[in-house]
Amino acid sequence: MSATAAASPDSPALRVRGLTKRYDNGVQALKGIDLEVAPGDFFALLGPNGAGKSTMIGIISSLVNLSEGSVEVFGVDLQQQRGAAMRLVGLVPQEINFNLFEKPIDILVNYAGFYGIDRATALVRAEEELKRAHLWEKAHMISRTLSGGMKRRLMIARAMMTRPQLLILDEPTAGVDIEIRRDMWRVLEQINRDGTTIILTTHYLEEAEQLCRNVAIIDRGQIVQQAPMRELLATLDVEGFVLDTDGDLPADLPLIEGASLVVRNAHTLELDKPRAMDLVGVFTALGQAGVQVRSMRTRSNRLEELFVRLTGKKD
Ligand SMILES: Nc1ncnc2c1ncn2[C@@H]1O[C@H](COP(=O)(O)OP(=O)(O)OP(=O)(O)O)[C@@H](O)[C@H]1O
Ligand SMILES: [Mg+2]
Repeated sequence: MSATAAASPDSPALRVRGLTKRYDNGVQALKGIDLEVAPGDFFALLGPNGAGKSTMIGIISSLVNLSEGSVEVFGVDLQQQRGAAMRLVGLVPQEINFNLFEKPIDILVNYAGFYGIDRATALVRAEEELKRAHLWEKAHMISRTLSGGMKRRLMIARAMMTRPQLLILDEPTAGVDIEIRRDMWRVLEQINRDGTTIILTTHYLEEAEQLCRNVAIIDRGQIVQQAPMRELLATLDVEGFVLDTDGDLPADLPLIEGASLVVRNAHTLELDKPRAMDLVGVFTALGQAGVQVRSMRTRSNRLEELFVRLTGKKD
């Protein structure tokens, strides 16, 4: 039976219900996760260190046993039909784990063989996947000689050899420089356009913003926010400034409708205002109240701010 025969086209790509994970050492890594990812989505699981991202991905890809709850991949229940569920999922681990002395073409064909795909089919697929990952011209080179970015793209090509309907990546770009990340983004965008649902975990807010249509933010084993990326960004339509002032601040600060003004210390104010609000009006009101602003700077970037607001920590 093929993997697709088991999958139900009307089901979400992923449905997680009441998922908990307690490791043997007593750590409660997941505390009741509910999550749904639509077919075709490009979904980010965003969260600080130790939030539970890898645990969750480990469970979905059958590397880690869950404690309670259920996971369905395209309608296939992970606990009742583990083999079928596994065939629907492709995993790109964080660490490079192929044999550096093999050639990309052999790495892909052997991987397919391990999953019971015959050699002729595997060769056709390997060419397709190496081309999609912009690695075809490297097919017969020793993998050790590939650049860091190419090695990571090879990991993606390898995961695609089984034609998974759900591709999961655990921090695919951790610690790699921006050029390499952009290369990977292009390959992932192509794979998603070609119809594969993608879930990735990341620390990089910018990466989620660039790639993903929907995002869940996980912190200490719980989902603290789940929304379309666009909506999430819209809630960030507030910009924060720090104003350095000269002289004493008046007892009463002016009220500026729609904005908030808070005294941080004797010479510093914090201003939050909607992005669309003109700063001139703010300065006029401050001047009339006798506040002399010497300089001003933006407080931080918006996604960073959201993260801190939701999780209470800097990442
Ligand atoms: N095999 C394990 N045994 C015991 N505890 C574990 C194990 N793996 C993870 N944990 C703990 O579970 C919690 C969640 O870890 P997890 O690796 O899922 O987080 P993460 O979000 O992937 O973090 P990071 O961003 O650092 O990769 C942490 O407290 C971690 O120490
Ligand atoms: Mg992790």
